[in-house]
Amino acid sequence: MKKKIKIALLGFGTVGKGIYYSLKNHPKRISKTIGFEIEVVSIVVKHLEKHQDFEDNKLITTDFETVIQNPEIDIVLEAIVGKEPAFSYLSQSIKAGKHIITANKEMFAHHGEELLELSQKHDVNIGFEATTAGGIPVINTIGKLFQFNEIKKITAILNGTSNYILTQMRVQKLPFNIALKQAQELGYAEADPTNDIEGYDSFYKLMILGQLIYGKQPDWSSVNREGIVNITAKEIEDYNLEDKRIKHIASLELQDNTLTASVKPVVISSEHPLYSIEGVENAVVIEGDVVGQITLSGPGAGAFPTASAMLEDLCLILQSERSTTSSPILAKAIL
Ligand SMILES: NC(=O)c1ccc[n+]([C@@H]2O[C@H](COP(=O)([O-])OP(=O)(O)OC[C@H]3O[C@@H](n4cnc5c(N)ncnc54)[C@H](OP(=O)(O)O)[C@@H]3O)[C@@H](O)[C@H]2O)c1
Repeated sequence: MKKKIKIALLGFGTVGKGIYYSLKNHPKRISKTIGFEIEVVSIVVKHLEKHQDFEDNKLITTDFETVIQNPEIDIVLEAIVGKEPAFSYLSQSIKAGKHIITANKEMFAHHGEELLELSQKHDVNIGFEATTAGGIPVINTIGKLFQFNEIKKITAILNGTSNYILTQMRVQKLPFNIALKQAQELGYAEADPTNDIEGYDSFYKLMILGQLIYGKQPDWSSVNREGIVNITAKEIEDYNLEDKRIKHIASLELQDNTLTASVKPVVISSEHPLYSIEGVENAVVIEGDVVGQITLSGPGAGAFPTASAMLEDLCLILQSERSTTSSPILAKAIL
């Protein structure tokens, strides 16, 4: 591979800007450690007019064809919302021989398997660390560092918005709708918060973990998905008096060859590893049959934590290009 790597960004919102400015703020970091210079050569958006004041607005386009038609673009980093056009854009990128990195959990939960198969066929890599638990390196930890262990169970807080709301309801004694409004004012919740508060966001992430760990997702219709909208401040307060907390927990377990999963509010006591995960933090408890229980925690969302996950994927792809043998992490990720 050549010394200068050209990349395209699909989406230039919270995450896309996080990637762009991380690269801009640390221009020599990748060339120093891995030996490749990185240049962003194209940024695909939906609304050109929103980006007129951007300092490098000559890079902005609404025409994805220009990415596909440009053989110099080696890697496509995608941070668009929703299944389409993200899936089509990434399929086309793979077919054009480009590596892809995505943060888009909804798209990847639906189409990850197809993209992984396609990437094998076209001999390119896929990074999807940012789809699950934002800045916490859970995908690569499981993919690379859990080769010998069998993972028996995952228990996790995968949505920072709902965890923030539950925390505020307990600490500030707020009703659900006021805590939600606060989350929206702080930019933690979308104007339409359905995906977060009804558990769809956690569900998608859990399905991606299922695919990674067990090579298959649980049957979606068998997953009990409950949101947090019916939890009252009084319930939270009553449990709090008993030193218990309600957490919105995603869990995945393999028992007798059957994969079971749920996303729902669970009452936990102070010994539980997720008890102290507060505010917008995420955490993933991994139970390996040899190692026992490990908890990874950290920022589950936000411009820079998510960009961090995507840029670490970028480094892994570049390392695998450099070493000619493919990276063990990404090889495992290609199921
Ligand atoms: N925000 C986080 O903390 C976070 C964390 C982990 C994963 N993610 C995932 O990352 C993705 C991006 O999230 P975000 O928060 O950055 O979203 P966002 O701020 O809403 O930005 C979305 C970007 O996608 C562009 N876009 C939308 N439809 C498009 C289309 N048809 N063609 C080209 N571009 C299109 C938008 O273009 P315009 O700017 O022109 O409207 C915008 O730049 C989502 O899949 C999300 O689930 C986000």
